[in-house]
Amino acid sequence: MKQKPMTALRTARLVDAERIFALIHLHRDRLVPRSLGNIVENIDRFVVAEVDGEMVGCATYGIFPEIGEPLHTAVEIQSVAVRAPWRRQGVGRALVQEIVRRVRAFEPAAALVLTFSPEFFGTLGFHEVPKDKVMYKLYTGCINCTKYANPFTCPEKAMVLDLKAHSPCSAQK
Ligand SMILES: CC(C)(COP(=O)(O)OP(=O)(O)OC[C@H]1O[C@@H](n2cnc3c(N)ncnc32)[C@H](O)[C@@H]1OP(=O)(O)O)[C@@H](O)C(=O)NCCC(=O)NCCS
Repeated sequence: MKQKPMTALRTARLVDAERIFALIHLHRDRLVPRSLGNIVENIDRFVVAEVDGEMVGCATYGIFPEIGEPLHTAVEIQSVAVRAPWRRQGVGRALVQEIVRRVRAFEPAAALVLTFSPEFFGTLGFHEVPKDKVMYKLYTGCINCTKYANPFTCPEKAMVLDLKAHSPCSAQK
C-alpha cells in the first residue's frame, strides 16, 4: 500500500517567492492577488508546505488594528493555497494551524479570514461574523476589490477564530 507522504512546514525563503507568486496567481479567483514585490517584502511571514522537497502549499498573515472588542488587534490569515493534487490530505489545516501558532506570540484577540472556503475554516474552529465587525479590512482591502462593488453583498465570508479562549485550531489533529 502507498504510504501518505510527509508534509514539512517551514518559513519561506526568498528563493520561494516566485513559486508562491505562481501558487497565489493560480487561485486568483479565490485569493487576493499579490505582486512579487509584496511577497518578497513579506517573505518572513509566509509558511510553505513541502512534500518530498516540492512546494505544495503556502499561507501567511497580516495584522489588522480593528477598533473595539472582540476583534481589536486581529490577525488576518491570508493567501492560504494548496496545489490541487495535494488537497484533502491535511496540508491546508497544517498551514493554518502553523500560522495561528506563530501569531499567538503577539497575543491577538482573534484570527480573522475573509474566505470563499468557509467549510474549510469551519473545520478549524472559525465561525462567521458580520462584515461590519471588520471595518478596517473593508476600508483597506475590500474597497479596492475589482470583482464586487459592495463588500456586504460579496459572497466571501468573514470568519473569526477566538484566540483568547482554547480553540480546536490549537489542538493537533
Ligand atoms: C481551501 C484549501 C486551502 C484547503 O486545503 P486542503 O489541504 O485541501 O485542506 P485540508 O485537507 O487540510 O482540510 C482540512 C479540513 O477541511 C475540510 N475541507 C477542505 N476543503 C474543503 C472544501 N472545499 N469544502 C469542505 N470542506 C473542506 C477537509 O475535509 C478537512 O476536514 P476534516 O478535518 O473534518 O477531515 C484548498 O482547497 C485550496 O487551496 N483552495 C483554493 C484556494 C482557497 O480557496 N484558499 C482559501 C482562501 S482564504
